[in-house]
Amino acid sequence: MEAPENLRIVDMKPKVAQFREEIIVGLLKTPKEISPKFFYDRTGSVLFDRITELEEYYPTRTERMILRNNIDDICSLFQDGSALVEYGSGGSSKTTEILDHCSGISTYVPLDISAAQLEETAKRLSERYHHLKIVALCVDYTTKFEIPFLHLTGNIIALFLGSTIGNFEPEDASAFLWNVMDMLGPEDGVIIGVDLKKDPAILEAAYNDSKGITARFNLNLITRIAKEFGVGLDTDDFRHVAFYNRKMGRIEMHLEALKDMEVTLDRNVIKFRKGELIQTENSYKYDQVEFEKMANRNGLSLEKAWKDPRGYFGLFFLRKTQG
Ligand code: SAH
Ligand code: AVI
Repeated sequence: MEAPENLRIVDMKPKVAQFREEIIVGLLKTPKEISPKFFYDRTGSVLFDRITELEEYYPTRTERMILRNNIDDICSLFQDGSALVEYGSGGSSKTTEILDHCSGISTYVPLDISAAQLEETAKRLSERYHHLKIVALCVDYTTKFEIPFLHLTGNIIALFLGSTIGNFEPEDASAFLWNVMDMLGPEDGVIIGVDLKKDPAILEAAYNDSKGITARFNLNLITRIAKEFGVGLDTDDFRHVAFYNRKMGRIEMHLEALKDMEVTLDRNVIKFRKGELIQTENSYKYDQVEFEKMANRNGLSLEKAWKDPRGYFGLFFLRKTQG
């Protein structure tokens, strides 16, 4: 089937060889680690979308409510003929709140590492929004890449929802902010969703849901490794572990090996000891002051802060610091 006329898909997705190399490097480390960017194959993206609907996982519905409650303010940021450039767009499910209401937007640029989900979403949106030009970029945004020239008459507003910024280590979050700042002109800006510090019991429940979907999301990494390397690793031999590390201000997710195991990945022998943990994700929680300081250090100034009444989640609008 041909792509709709208003849709362009740019494929800069990392090669399987890159995945294999990064997995091996992480599993040879002590302690072992796997980057959370590897969660998102087709199954991982479906499981993440199921997480967003869970009773315990408050971030998605809270952020959606913040977007809805402040939509006029948000729309006022877009000039006529502007572009919305979204990092880690996933299923773009909250983005439609913006696309439905903000008439200034002429171009939508979703950017994601999850090729299958990005393509399906971009196609669906191009059929729903005939007036929009959609340029979907399949890319690892932690690498160096260029956004194609967009021929705009208006400004660019970047968007990074879901508190995905919390999945970066703080120094990487800083580097990310710096790169975004560097791309912005004086009329442009960036909206970032940030999960705020709160009662650890609420946080721990969100990452240990009663239906076990987060556990399946985490364990899917084992399935993906087994499939991409063609080796016999079994999800039954690992356990999902998630807890709040108060000192570091982050939820940590790990996979715990339930027995001694050995596997050979491209001639590298990887040994797992019973009880050993593989760190798979950190999800940093910030308070507004902390986040603002980090943004300021990277040439960005906070112009608006929208929050929900409980103060669970913040949506921050930043512009490049002038002068
Ligand atoms: N924005 C959506 C999805 C958040 S899940 C929401 O708020 O619900 C995080 C998204 O970021 C996933 O779609 C995942 O595929 C993408 N992602 C994670 N790491 C990435 C990377 N390094 N480069 C590009 N996309 C990445
Ligand atoms: C995408 N990211 C912000 C989610 C989070 O909450 O850190 C990923 C996730 N991990 C477990 N549940 C959801």
